[in-house]
Amino acid sequence: SISELNTMQGFCAVASDSDCSSSFTKILIKGGTVVNAHHKEVADVYIEDGIIVSVRPNIKVGDEVKIVDATGKYVMPGGIDPHTHLEMEFMGTVMIDDFFTGQAAALAGGTTMHIDFIIPVNGSLSAGFDSYIKKAKNAVMDYGFHMAITKWDEEVAKDMELMVKENGINSFKFFMAYKGALMVNDELLMQGLVKCKSLGALAMVHAENGDAIAEGQKRMIDLGITGPEGHSLSRPPVLEGEATARAIRLASFVNTPLYVVHVMSIDAMEEIAVARKAGQRVIGEPVVSGLVLDESWLWDPDFTTAAKYVMSPPIRKAEHGKALQAALTTGTLQPFCDQKLSEFGQRHSPFSQQILNIFSVLLVGTDHCAWNSTQKALGIDDFRKIPNGVNGIEERMHLVWDTMVESGKISVTDYVRITSTECARIFNIYPRKGAILEGSDADIIILNPNATFKITAASHHSRSDTNVFEGMTGKGKVEVTISGGRVVWENNKLNIMPGSGRYIRMPPYGYLFDGIDKADAAYLASLHAPVHRTKAAA
Ligand code: URP
Ligand code: ZN
Ligand code: ZN
Ligand code: ZN
Repeated sequence: SISELNTMQGFCAVASDSDCSSSFTKILIKGGTVVNAHHKEVADVYIEDGIIVSVRPNIKVGDEVKIVDATGKYVMPGGIDPHTHLEMEFMGTVMIDDFFTGQAAALAGGTTMHIDFIIPVNGSLSAGFDSYIKKAKNAVMDYGFHMAITKWDEEVAKDMELMVKENGINSFKFFMAYKGALMVNDELLMQGLVKCKSLGALAMVHAENGDAIAEGQKRMIDLGITGPEGHSLSRPPVLEGEATARAIRLASFVNTPLYVVHVMSIDAMEEIAVARKAGQRVIGEPVVSGLVLDESWLWDPDFTTAAKYVMSPPIRKAEHGKALQAALTTGTLQPFCDQKLSEFGQRHSPFSQQILNIFSVLLVGTDHCAWNSTQKALGIDDFRKIPNGVNGIEERMHLVWDTMVESGKISVTDYVRITSTECARIFNIYPRKGAILEGSDADIIILNPNATFKITAASHHSRSDTNVFEGMTGKGKVEVTISGGRVVWENNKLNIMPGSGRYIRMPPYGYLFDGIDKADAAYLASLHAPVHRTKAAA
């Protein structure tokens, strides 16, 4: 209940509370470096009623305006997390963060919008949609939805159309893993790709070979390996590479864009890079856990510690995270990438050296799916029963800044692109989201590059009692978050209002569909070219 939420430490959930400044509808952010994906400049940003009204130097305002000083700091679009699971029912339990705590965590970490995955209820998309709209009624920031497709019949096909045309959903996820639960076979995936294409909706895949994983799990259990390390050993990178390659080739056959969620391995990334180099519209989404963690934790002798790192696809050996970091970089910082590539380039396909240093992957998500340690303990005797998933919604913006920008791998403008703008473009809500431009929603963060952050379960805002990034520190701290034109995070305190978050409808036919019709027309025309055959002799 709301009163329960009010008593949570550090929260101010009532608009009229004297501490809260949510009554300010006019805000001036002064003197910061305003960063967009395409450009940065020192300027002021003036906000009124949730919308950015003006971006230029030396804006003058009256007394009724809240002034936020950003001198020496970066003023950037709030993060958009393309991949979260709040209050998801999964593996016999319910994920510990709901839309209130998950979004509170997001705002404290500089993320102002997320796109969550609706899981159908008994295969029904409409029932799933209704249930998630209910789950989100205490939302404190804007959110959108992808929808999973877990079975196939006439009703599902009809409902997909309804979701796109009436309900603002423009992406559908197909699980190629989780056999016996969410997994779909190639026949369903093929039907789904065709339907997605016909609706201008983006097909997304969880790319791991679920049948082979079942075999890998049996192998581990037969060997007596029942602990969390069995999770990694039972589903190696080759099974992620195989499924990624299969999905990419099927999407090529249908000629429709594809989005590969949580890319965790070099194997999968190489497939994406090769396809992109050949001109196919494939997006790969690394997640922050995959970028900065390595699998060694799964061998920790303490079960609670090891189990918190169980997610699918698994967190891999460190070289995979390093390669994914390199894939996020652009040609502008080429020498760095080439130097780094030599560390692992030889170990993988001869393509690596040539292909990793293009825009192989364009954005970073989290796959935030947090459990507490009692839930993880469901798998104390059998790694197959450990709820899959790790946190990240609060940590992504800080860790990506420290790992990518503070280290000199990417520019500040690229940071905005990979944490916000590209997600808004792909899901067709740019420039309402993902930009600091006149007319854009006032979802803004102020990051101090000279301040430090430290991550601990004791201080985070997720309900989970653990954090996979426990103890990590770095440079660059989100000091202010503005969501929907209200200051919701300032002086390390949240000031949020349940119900203030809005559902953001995402229209179909995003930029990834541009030109698909022309390519199809050219292909069809080529089929109708007459074939001249000589008549067979009678
Ligand atoms: O382990 C994970 N990734 N849990 C969330 C569900 C999914 O596959 O995205
Ligand atoms: Zn997944
Ligand atoms: Zn490079
Ligand atoms: Zn996920």
